[in-house]
Amino acid sequence: MKPLKVNKARLWDSLMEMAKIGATEKGGCCRLALTDLDRQARDLYIQWAKEAGCSIRIDAVGNIMATRPGEDMSLAPVGTGSHLDTQPTGGKYDGVFGVLSGLEVVRSLNDNGIKTRHPIEISVWTNEEGSRFAPAMMGSGVVSGRFTLQEILDKTDVDGIRLGDELERIGYAGDTPVTGREYHAFFETHIEQGPYLEAENKVIGVVTGGQGQRWYDVELTGQESHAGTTPMHLRTDALTCASSLILAVQAIAQQHKPGCGTVGFMQVMPNSRNTIPGKINLSVDLRHPDDAQLSAMDTELTKTVERLVAETGVQIHLKPIWYYAPIPFDKNCIEAVRGSAADLGYSHMDIIAGAGHDACYVSDFAPTSMVFTPCLNGISHNEIESTTPEECEAGCSVLLNAMLRMAEV
Ligand code: GLV
Ligand code: MN
Ligand code: MN
Ligand code: MN
Repeated sequence: MKPLKVNKARLWDSLMEMAKIGATEKGGCCRLALTDLDRQARDLYIQWAKEAGCSIRIDAVGNIMATRPGEDMSLAPVGTGSHLDTQPTGGKYDGVFGVLSGLEVVRSLNDNGIKTRHPIEISVWTNEEGSRFAPAMMGSGVVSGRFTLQEILDKTDVDGIRLGDELERIGYAGDTPVTGREYHAFFETHIEQGPYLEAENKVIGVVTGGQGQRWYDVELTGQESHAGTTPMHLRTDALTCASSLILAVQAIAQQHKPGCGTVGFMQVMPNSRNTIPGKINLSVDLRHPDDAQLSAMDTELTKTVERLVAETGVQIHLKPIWYYAPIPFDKNCIEAVRGSAADLGYSHMDIIAGAGHDACYVSDFAPTSMVFTPCLNGISHNEIESTTPEECEAGCSVLLNAMLRMAEV
């Protein structure tokens, strides 16, 4: 069969329409998980999926499954999907592209009157970003069994609001069980969020796996004291100690190439200009494609903390809150992506995902791979995140053909 292409204009129009929900002044989106804006995006997506002939189920952690029937409904679906939540300074594509390219696959199959033996299922996974509620990839993580449903429902945001309560409030605490989900194969399209495809001038990234991650919550306790009366040698300043820790995180990552280390969240108490900071809460995010290297980074972080406690007298509580090892994707699914890119005549290269993706957890229970497309200057988690209708069309067309290879026409 000649490879099919999706409808470029329709895909782009849907992306632009969805981007109006939570639109920011700089042209991005702020649609934090389980806020009213997340609900609006979910509602619009469900309306579109129903119009495309899909039936909808919502599970107990708020994942939305839209199903296009197959000729043999006893077969496991061929799945795709991603997330609708964004970072606080999110763009228009991170996540949304993977959801709407799934919808565009269904719309294109409808246009072409194509029936598949396997059903097609598009998932919207709850709280992929892990920004409002940590950690990330919660919806797919519950379905894969990495997290229990209860521990996720009990997570709280920085204001103490419970995830389960927010799910109820926005009307997305569904009744489909989170257990027993199956896919014959699963593919996720996503902008690369990094610079490699653009640098190599390639249209498609064939994603062979995802790097591992370790997340921590850190609390540093010093002593509040007067900024004008406390001599420098008598201070226990939690913020200067935190500064040393932040620089150590950077150094640890630099010593373990191509590892990454980030402190992206910090609260300073009492946050008053003439009081020495007594308490700091911050996050640490370590990533590496090699698990042994990631463990070495973890060990060095622990040693750094012990050293800083001894040197400064600040008490430091380092709490690991999330870990997953690097994930290899499925050989056949990778080949379906690579072969579809080749059939369509798109330049392509193999690539490892630097970001976390729901596909990483889906690969626990289903053969999985991902399709990456370039993003301008490799920038993501930023309102200026940018891509083109042609790049989206290419990624979505590869998705369509990879899914068709698995869904048996
Ligand atoms: C989420 O987008 C992550 O990769 O951290
Ligand atoms: Mn994403
Ligand atoms: Mn993201
Ligand atoms: Mn991500």
